[in-house]
Amino acid sequence: MSELDLRWRIAELKQLLSSVWMAAGGTPRLHSTRVEAEVRAEVDSTNTRLMEEARSDAQAAPGPRLLVAEAQTAGRGRRGRSWHAQPGASLCFSIALPLEAPSPSLSLAMAVAVAEALEPLAGTPDDPKPRLMLKWPNDVWLRDDNNAAGGRKLGGLLIETVASPSGRVLVAGLGLNLQPLAMNGTPDYGIATWSEVDRDADAVSVLHAVAPAALSALLGHTAHTWRKGWAHRDILAGRHIEAQAASGHLRGIACGIADDGSLLLRTDHDGEIRAVTSGEVSIRTVASEARP
Ligand code: BTN
Repeated sequence: MSELDLRWRIAELKQLLSSVWMAAGGTPRLHSTRVEAEVRAEVDSTNTRLMEEARSDAQAAPGPRLLVAEAQTAGRGRRGRSWHAQPGASLCFSIALPLEAPSPSLSLAMAVAVAEALEPLAGTPDDPKPRLMLKWPNDVWLRDDNNAAGGRKLGGLLIETVASPSGRVLVAGLGLNLQPLAMNGTPDYGIATWSEVDRDADAVSVLHAVAPAALSALLGHTAHTWRKGWAHRDILAGRHIEAQAASGHLRGIACGIADDGSLLLRTDHDGEIRAVTSGEVSIRTVASEARP
């Protein structure tokens, strides 16, 4: 066992993931496959690695496979953006899973599972309001009552699918900010970091809490509860937002999430509720309104 495996307690993590996998209802054929977990010092992107492995069917018996990277040289975010992660400053991992027809709400279910797994680690049991919040469609935020938007982004999910010779594979990646990222030597105060919650920002404990919860959600264990979980942590609900949707630019008040995972918005234009299925959303704060 390598020094990296020992540091990240990979054997223990495999056990946790295997229990989730075995508890999943499904075909015995799938249950005969193994859960793989690996940590690497550096990769281009954990999502890219797992997608390429799936494409070439590098895994003999396709079961869930977790890949953690201490550093990524070409981390990717949603909508073609880069995901910057300096070594030690982020937790980056992806899970690949054979899934023929992933539901569009799977990424929301995974985001809920991640937030719910992190909440007990945030250590504020007397606070009735959740500390971990969710911003549609795939962001995990840390609540910040002093911030006009209600919080700051702590991390994000990138969900992709790829055709492998033995069927479709879903790759779900998560990046969480652990320590402030220095951009040109200056810390980026616009983001939230796990070090605000836990000064030591122990990436291994966070991974051990979050990865099994994420796998469980991807296997459909939370299909009936994710909407309630999302509503509890929805940072957009009731806020003035702007959505850059496929159907155009919309302004209005966010009013929750539909069953299929789309964002519901009561438009300023005609007061009608519109569903936004994909796109980019920003929160309109007094400060952002004042900008030219
Ligand atoms: C976003 O907020 O835009 C999504 C960010 C997703 C980043 C993670 S880090 C692990 C995995 N590998 C990647 O290249 N991206 C995801």
